[in-house]
Amino acid sequence: MLATPDPQTTAFREDVLHGLSAPVPAIPARWLYDQRGSELFDAITRLPAYYPTRTETALLEQVMPEIAAKLPTGTAVVEFGAGSATKTPILLQAIAPAAYVPVDISGDYLQQSAAELQDRFPALKVEPVVADFARAFTLPKQIESLPKLGFFPGSTIGNFVPRSATDLLRQFRTLLGPCSFLLIGMDRVKPVRRLLAAYDDPRGVTAEFNLNLLVRINRELDADVPVEAFRHDARWNDILSRIEMHLVATRDVQFKIAGRQFRLAEGASIHTENSHKYGRRGARVLLLAGGWTPLAEWTDAAGDFSVVLARAEPERFAP
Ligand code: AVI
Repeated sequence: MLATPDPQTTAFREDVLHGLSAPVPAIPARWLYDQRGSELFDAITRLPAYYPTRTETALLEQVMPEIAAKLPTGTAVVEFGAGSATKTPILLQAIAPAAYVPVDISGDYLQQSAAELQDRFPALKVEPVVADFARAFTLPKQIESLPKLGFFPGSTIGNFVPRSATDLLRQFRTLLGPCSFLLIGMDRVKPVRRLLAAYDDPRGVTAEFNLNLLVRINRELDADVPVEAFRHDARWNDILSRIEMHLVATRDVQFKIAGRQFRLAEGASIHTENSHKYGRRGARVLLLAGGWTPLAEWTDAAGDFSVVLARAEPERFAP
């Protein structure tokens, strides 16, 4: 008898079958992060060519006292994502929050990173929530009456197309409530050669990260995708201001996934990720469209990466 797949595998299969049947074959980027994918992404963040992580970390170190001075005392921090071992402590150290609520869909990963932070900050109230932060969920009762700061580093916002990014920001606003704050990392537009180097590193880690999606499909979805017949491709889409990752077929291929047959001609591609890059004004317009009023912005000296502090202004009658 066939075992019933878990809801996660069912959702993965639906996204893959649906995505590969679309006129422009595409698979949502969130499926890049299985165990191996998460390890590879971690390795990417330490690559010399991948500037965002180290630039944002250094920037946060430098400007955190200024950020802390703008926040009310007794603030609860809600982090969208499990929390990084380097960036989150910078924030927690500086603002000494009343509570810390990391939100992540991966329960195991969340528990592990929450436990590590609890060890490091024994007096801090850590209240992890297992949830998909892109969907509606509720915050722990204990922080209901506290002022709130949402923390969304890494330019993860850039992985959402503008329409979804706006929905996400609005969902954060609804969740955190009027007068709350949002501290968000946003990667900046820069010379294409640097962007391409960051997303197609000479060590091939990003290529492996991208190709691992096919390995995952074969393992989890009873598939026979010829992984060796695909290559990683990172492209700059200028009009949409984003790096795109694709998996390009290097020959005509056919394969089966969960009993369905697919064909791709040589040179055709599967679109696997968007990473939007923002100009100064574009970043602000996106935040405003999502219901957040920028209060202050900090950028590193090279202009590579920005962190923006924004506030959910209470609704008022607009002219
Ligand atoms: C997680 N996210 C912000 C990364 C980015 O830069 O868009 C994912 C990534 N993809 C390739 N390299 C890194």
